[in-house]
Amino acid sequence: MTSTSYNALTDTFIPKPIAEPQQADRFSDAAIAELEEIVTHYPERKAACLPALWIAQREYGGSLTPGAIREVADRLGLSYTEVEGVASFYTMYNLKPRGRHHVEVCTCLTCALLGAYDIVHRYEHELGVTMGGTTEDGEFTLSEAECLNYCGGATVIQVGDKYFTGVTPENCLSLIEELRKSQQFTPALLADSIVKIQTPGASTSGGGSFAAQDLI
Ligand code: FES
Repeated sequence: MTSTSYNALTDTFIPKPIAEPQQADRFSDAAIAELEEIVTHYPERKAACLPALWIAQREYGGSLTPGAIREVADRLGLSYTEVEGVASFYTMYNLKPRGRHHVEVCTCLTCALLGAYDIVHRYEHELGVTMGGTTEDGEFTLSEAECLNYCGGATVIQVGDKYFTGVTPENCLSLIEELRKSQQFTPALLADSIVKIQTPGASTSGGGSFAAQDLI
């Protein structure tokens, strides 16, 4: 990793190294055991980068901080830059902190035709944020999602490890009210579910499932 500084005498920009974040070691013993089990299913440790990032996203509270990326790199024998490149390529990895509930509204064709943008506008008005924003109280982050592969249930909203289907501009605020009552931190639930799916024999009961439920 480098940045540059300007040298007025030579009229040139000189690269200077940026200190990489130090390892934070926040993986619990259980998380380390999960990672080591998952690694056995790959030909080499480096290949387990994607599941390792999901474990990190859960262990670091729902987002991949520089310390989380550093820890994954060290545990897999990769460079910080390699892991950062993977994490920044896939949009399901959170490089910024999310609200307690990450509300992702599918705005692809089928959902858009059935009112997804009307739902988005109602949420923006209700929560006081624009798309991509997080409410001041940290309760909600609002995002657009690409097709969630559940077009028959349009409009579809994903919150953590759950899909909500049949959402309309008329009933969409009831989902917000339900989420306000929930004590869960849903970004970490999503990460945990994905880790469990990749861990043979593990139960997903701790992290929920991808069950879709109709919003009535
Ligand atoms: S278009 Fe929304 S789930 Fe496919």
